[in-house]
Amino acid sequence: MNRSIANVLFGGYGNLAKGPKKAVTGTHKETSTAEVCAMLCEAQSVIIVPGYGLAVAQGQYPLAEMVKVLREHGVNVRFGIHPVAGRMPGQLNVLLAEAGIPYDIVLEMDEINEDFKDTDVAMVLGANDVVNPDALDDPDSALAGMPVLHVWEAKQSVMMKRSMAAGYAGVDNPLMFKENNWMYLGDAKKNCEALRDAVKAHYEK
Ligand code: TAP
Repeated sequence: MNRSIANVLFGGYGNLAKGPKKAVTGTHKETSTAEVCAMLCEAQSVIIVPGYGLAVAQGQYPLAEMVKVLREHGVNVRFGIHPVAGRMPGQLNVLLAEAGIPYDIVLEMDEINEDFKDTDVAMVLGANDVVNPDALDDPDSALAGMPVLHVWEAKQSVMMKRSMAAGYAGVDNPLMFKENNWMYLGDAKKNCEALRDAVKAHYEK
């Protein structure tokens, strides 16, 4: 890691920037519950990246039910946790444990980052800064130097959040405009409930 956790969390943003940050523009593609359900059920491997939005919406319970069903049908679902995801140290680990998600499928960023390139679907649930590729690609980004989860390396990525707004750092995220990314817009709890129901219905057919 090029920056300390304290630097990343409290006021470190922008300190490494040397010039004007790159403009983030593009056209995003939106997807639906039915399409995301199909992507998940057809996948062999899925990595879920949870963030602050999942915690604030309390979407972990329907999420845990959906993950259980997918795993029972042979989909290799794992979680990738960024060290500063959420707003408190360990917040996402506690949240997932509370919902009964098994510890052995919850991996730290450094344990899982190499695996995105061999993964069918990366699903970002209410996370933003921790999956911003400009942290690596733009030395003038306010996030420059912060290690991030490489979700864009998966065959497809789905970013679930309510809008196209920036996250905690106030930095635009080019992941939203990548060719292989789909935006699944909505509240994390409502979308997790809808996905859980769709995945259950898919296997009950
Ligand atoms: P963020 O970058 O803040 O992204 C969270 C995203 O969740 C937002 O862009 C927001 O987008 C979405 N969201 C909010 N409410 C939602 C809801 N009800 N349903 C669906 N989505 C919702 O969070 P992150 O990726 O977890 O990264 C953490 C950030 O917090 C880092 O910048 C980190 O440095 C900072 N921080 C962390 C800590 C600790 S100790 N973890 C402490 C202080 C600061 P919409 O508004 O479009 O929905």
